[in-house]
Amino acid sequence: MLTSYTIAVIGGTGPQGKGLGYRFARHGHTVVLGSRSAEKAVPVAEEVAARLTGVDGAGAVSGAANAEAVAQADVVLLAVPWDGHDELVGSLDLAGKTVISCVNPLAFDKRGAHGAVVDAGEGSAAEHAQQLAPEATVVGAFHNVSAVHLWGEYDYLDEDVLVVGDVVEAKQVAQDLAVAVTSRRGIDAGKLRLARVLEPLTAVLISVNRKYKVNSGLRISGLEGIER
Ligand SMILES: NC(=O)c1ccc[n+]([C@@H]2O[C@H](COP(=O)([O-])OP(=O)(O)OC[C@H]3O[C@@H](n4cnc5c(N)ncnc54)[C@H](OP(=O)(O)O)[C@@H]3O)[C@@H](O)[C@H]2O)c1
Repeated sequence: MLTSYTIAVIGGTGPQGKGLGYRFARHGHTVVLGSRSAEKAVPVAEEVAARLTGVDGAGAVSGAANAEAVAQADVVLLAVPWDGHDELVGSLDLAGKTVISCVNPLAFDKRGAHGAVVDAGEGSAAEHAQQLAPEATVVGAFHNVSAVHLWGEYDYLDEDVLVVGDVVEAKQVAQDLAVAVTSRRGIDAGKLRLARVLEPLTAVLISVNRKYKVNSGLRISGLEGIER
């Protein structure tokens, strides 16, 4: 296995954070599921840990208040809704951490899901996180993997994780962690500003899901035999 990380999942009581936390721990990483209330995080962590009983090499899973989870971790996954994102992220001491955002600012109306316009189209949730935590290194990843699949029965998803960021070493952390989800490293998909594309792209997957009654995902062709 690749490097083992200690990952704080902010919003770890929600389906996306819990599902990614489960996958990471199943692959040997240590996971601290964070919540605005430690009392809420602990039983969710117990549920994830129980599911990992008997899994060879699984990492420990615990629950804590968000700030305490961050203090214990070298990698922080932001898995909270866009509403309230800035207030929460601004309250955390993320200095020196590698921060991965999977936050999708989405909106819904009678025509379905669509991307919420962030900063008149010149911004994204991941870029907001970087502005709010200038001493952290923020990357975007895991925007397009479905919580249903993360907590589902598949060993690995037949999908790719696209990783965007401005610092190669930080992107490599998310690329490593993607192995826990898809069994292969994530794809370096460019600079952090491309989170403006990855975040609303999930609205397209939601439309596909509605049309065909599936949980769709992304797979990039043309990379066979290429080292990621
Ligand atoms: N669900 C998916 O399939 C999926 C797929 C890809 C990406 N995402 C993205 O991942 C993020 C999390 O998705 P989710 O479905 O797990 O979301 P969620 O269930 O709505 O929220 C996750 C957790 O965030 C915390 N939270 C809720 N409102 C908050 C607020 N105003 N301020 C701070 N914390 C708050 C809650 O935890 P506590 O009450 O315990 O603090 C909640 O359990 C979203 O940005 C979503 O766009 C989701």
